Amino acid sequence: MRAIVQDKYGLPADVLVLQEVDKPEIKDDEVHVRVHTAAVHPGDWLLMTGRPYVFRLALGMRKPRKRIPGFDFAGTVEAVGGDVGEFQPGDEVFGEAPTGSCAEYVSVAADRIAAKPSGLTLAQAAVVPVSGVTALRGLRDAGKLRPGQHVLINGASGGVGTFAVQIAKALGAEVTGVCGTGNVEMVRSIGADHVIDYSRESFTEGGARYDLILDNVANHSMAECRRVLTEGGGLLSNNGTSGGRWFGPLGRMAAAALLSPFVRKQKAPFYAPVRKQDLIDLTELIEAGKITPVIDSTYPLEETAAAMSHVGAGHARGKVTIGM
Ligand SMILES: NC(=O)c1ccc[n+]([C@@H]2O[C@H](COP(=O)([O-])OP(=O)(O)OC[C@H]3O[C@@H](n4cnc5c(N)ncnc54)[C@H](OP(=O)(O)O)[C@@H]3O)[C@@H](O)[C@H]2O)c1
Repeated sequence: MRAIVQDKYGLPADVLVLQEVDKPEIKDDEVHVRVHTAAVHPGDWLLMTGRPYVFRLALGMRKPRKRIPGFDFAGTVEAVGGDVGEFQPGDEVFGEAPTGSCAEYVSVAADRIAAKPSGLTLAQAAVVPVSGVTALRGLRDAGKLRPGQHVLINGASGGVGTFAVQIAKALGAEVTGVCGTGNVEMVRSIGADHVIDYSRESFTEGGARYDLILDNVANHSMAECRRVLTEGGGLLSNNGTSGGRWFGPLGRMAAAALLSPFVRKQKAPFYAPVRKQDLIDLTELIEAGKITPVIDSTYPLEETAAAMSHVGAGHARGKVTIGM
């Protein structure tokens, strides 16, 4: 099969190569899927560059252990393992492939995928898993967002933010989205009640107070963010790409974790790996018409490096996809 392969860390054009590789084998608990569309996000950029360096302790010191980039995908089931009763060949599914989704085929554990939401194309379904689950688990579980509360989404126009705005509205919240000038109308169109253009004003200096801040950007100090929270409000930091080349976001994440038991308003960082139940919960919201994925652009597999550069620039308008 054709796949994008990477055998060293670096920038997209230097390290991402289209190759012919063996199709993945299928284990008893796995489903073999012909990928229709994959999607890439800032976490894939981090894995590709191997920066911050400290993450190489887990990812592979000299080269990435995960050779194929991408996690998100949607496609059609080709075969199922002996222990899988839930899916059959021909089913359309979406989910997360830990071994890499920028490939024509993936084999994934059946508990990491779900049936494609009806009403979505495979291309739309492919962008839901990582960003949709992060937004859902952040707002609903870590943030405990309740109806009537006022939530601010910093980075409302990106992959996580476009899901977060719609999920927050579905949870009954009043939503303020923060984004750049060119995305103000788009963020309003997906349901934000108020939109702040960060190039004109800073949300940390306005008079509004928020019950929850989901910070996807980390361009203000945590103390500045906490100042614009209500008494019982909480700051939820969700940025994995800020900071320097050695430790990246770890300093901020560690500070959030250490402060959270003592500093009212500071929530601990959260990590939201894709679980089947989250995909099912998102499917319900999608099928109820409460979430429509926002797709920035689609690149062919051989142009994955260009797709990754676009994501790495930090201004994707929704999600960036790779079509097989
Ligand atoms: N916790 C988890 O499990 C998890 C999972 C996935 C992702 N993440 C993290 O979530 C973060 C966001 O991911 P994403 O996919 O949403 O990223 P993205 O698609 O690149 O979106 C970036 C957002 O940041 C905004 N932005 C860029 N520069 C800005 C500035 N100077 N001031 C204010 N906003 C600015 C962009 O707005 P404009 O384009 O309008 O300028 C856009 O809304 C990443 O750091 C990622 O590592 C965490």
